[in-house]
Amino acid sequence: MIAVAIDGPAGAGKSTIAKKVSAELGFIYVDTGAIYRAVGLACIKKGIDEGDSRAVKKLLEDIDIRIIFFNGEQHILLNDEDVSGEIRTETVSMAASTVSAIPEVREFLLALQRDFALTDNVIMDGRDIGTVVLPNAQVKIFLTASPEVRARRRVEQLAEKGESADYETVLADIVKRDHNDSSREIAPLKPADSAFIVDTSDITLEESVKKIADIIKENIE
Ligand code: DC
Repeated sequence: MIAVAIDGPAGAGKSTIAKKVSAELGFIYVDTGAIYRAVGLACIKKGIDEGDSRAVKKLLEDIDIRIIFFNGEQHILLNDEDVSGEIRTETVSMAASTVSAIPEVREFLLALQRDFALTDNVIMDGRDIGTVVLPNAQVKIFLTASPEVRARRRVEQLAEKGESADYETVLADIVKRDHNDSSREIAPLKPADSAFIVDTSDITLEESVKKIADIIKENIE
């Protein structure tokens, strides 16, 4: 099996790029942020403080999270309910970032992620795929862009969906989430030793897709 790890900060374009490249190569694309979001959402639904690690650990005993594919699209089931749409809010993003610093949450989600790489060729995106989840991945990419560019892209994405967002607020959220994700003790966001570092700040989406697809093709033969 071939595994490709794509890690990087929020909003660098990982999922958009990974989706396109996996369709081109015929690989399964797994977005691992979605399962951390499902844990964050479960806390919100139950009224649990995401920073309260004891309460979150207890909650893990009552939740079942599954990743399924429907017409080639990933869906997330939280206790059998499809929450794929519900997990895509800014509130859930921050809750996911907070719970992701709890070691038991990471442990709880580990096998779920690794199992995909046993049975399929995968492109998996997240924060610790090349360093922890799939340390033997054949290709590791660290995709990044400046916080300002990521915030601008996020505002544009929301505008396309008809939602307005304040640039300064989005930027502040991105900087806060970068800090949370990079400074946590366990599995912090950082490039794996052998990762190709790709900065998409000054290149278009099409150029980024081509660059990543080329790196993968050159390194899986
Ligand atoms: O990729 P995303 O923005 O949907 O991820 C949401 C949060 O989940 C992110 O802020 C940190 C956490 N996360 C993680 O710790 N490890 C991963 N492999 C993926 C996401």
